[in-house]
Amino acid sequence: MLILTKTAGVFFKPSKRKVYEFLRSFNFHPGTLFLHKIVLGIETSCDDTAAAVVDETGNVLGEAIHSQTEVHLKTGGIVPPAAQQLHRENIQRIVQEALSASRISPSDLSAIATTIKPGLALSLGVGLSFSLQLVGQLKKPFIPIHHMEAHALTIRLTNKVEFPFLVLLISGGHCLLALVQGVSDFLLLGKSLDIAPGDMLDKVARRLSLIKHPECSTMSGGKAIEHLAKQGNRFHFDIKPPLHHAKNCDFSFTGLQHVTDKIIMKKEKEEGIEKGQILSSAADIAATVQHTMACHLVKRTHRAILFCKQRDLLPQNNAVLVASGGVASNFYIRRALEILTNATQCTLLCPPPRLCTDNGIMIAWNGIERLRAGLGVLHGIEGIRYEPKCPLGVDISKEVGEASIKVPQLKMEI
Ligand code: KG4
Ligand code: ZN
Repeated sequence: MLILTKTAGVFFKPSKRKVYEFLRSFNFHPGTLFLHKIVLGIETSCDDTAAAVVDETGNVLGEAIHSQTEVHLKTGGIVPPAAQQLHRENIQRIVQEALSASRISPSDLSAIATTIKPGLALSLGVGLSFSLQLVGQLKKPFIPIHHMEAHALTIRLTNKVEFPFLVLLISGGHCLLALVQGVSDFLLLGKSLDIAPGDMLDKVARRLSLIKHPECSTMSGGKAIEHLAKQGNRFHFDIKPPLHHAKNCDFSFTGLQHVTDKIIMKKEKEEGIEKGQILSSAADIAATVQHTMACHLVKRTHRAILFCKQRDLLPQNNAVLVASGGVASNFYIRRALEILTNATQCTLLCPPPRLCTDNGIMIAWNGIERLRAGLGVLHGIEGIRYEPKCPLGVDISKEVGEASIKVPQLKMEI
């Protein structure tokens, strides 16, 4: 079995006795017969070390996660070598915990699925090299996973959803609108032209020094903004949603971030406080940013729904819109999207918040989906590389822009 030495961060092959002890530690019952396919999923693409064991019916047999949020909050953002080190220190324990909780023997796994793209190179590398060693030792098939595809398909674990459906993926690293036509069949309708919404919220939260706020000190930036916005008045400031005149499904968040920065600077002057102290109007600013972001997300998603219906890519009635990724755990954004789905005869589905943020379950489930469809299941591990940058599906965003669909105004009373 694999042992990751904490100091050197390298793998070595332990003695037979250690292997026996490792296997015994799973409480596995030799007489048990596993009829279902069972996949171990491993996720290290960003700042969470996560693993889970999921069976074909969507039962989560075991899971474990180590979040680095608190460490990165202190350094004011993710420092890739620090993230890599933390993945190295935790991956063995996290995988072991997920397997132990599942009470299955590693030999009963049908395959091992691991995120190999897109993400931070240093982080992806830890998960991939650990997984390949495990695959080699257990002699199991390997299923490379696209992180964003996994976010998109998580909903099929929690709800009965058939293809095709529309998905809005909003996280700290991504902002994508895609039509999901099959397990690995995606049409990309639009994406962020600059930063992702979670990144923007993290930056605003940092600029507002929310880490010093007693109620938000351990929360991710996005969660802190959502929390504080509940106490704020979104009408206090007026920010125009970005890309107002571009009739496509692309997104932009840097403009919103800069306008917010200016408001913060002005308020600091007015209130006579230094950068780094908490403004009395922080909650109003959080509420305004959250609302403007929600309106922008709704507008672009509205156009995507109209485009897909116009081209018969989605059914006219009861089409499904899925929202996932860390930012989709935000209930204000969910309510905004619900206004849209009610107005367009669609149904909004979101995974529970803990499955919206990064986790091992979505990776294991994507492995199950691929195993069932017979897609991308590898029996040799030669030449497998991680890919920090990787697009999602076939990009038809130009065609969407050329359709130049005008979107009717919705009353966003959230
Ligand atoms: O999907 P995720 O866990 O990791 C990435 O793949 O990026 O998303 C993390 C992002 C962070 O930017 C975090 O601030 C944001 O999701 N986030 C939220 C909320 N919870 C996490 N944003 C808005 N509201 C939340 N409740
Ligand atoms: Zn993610």
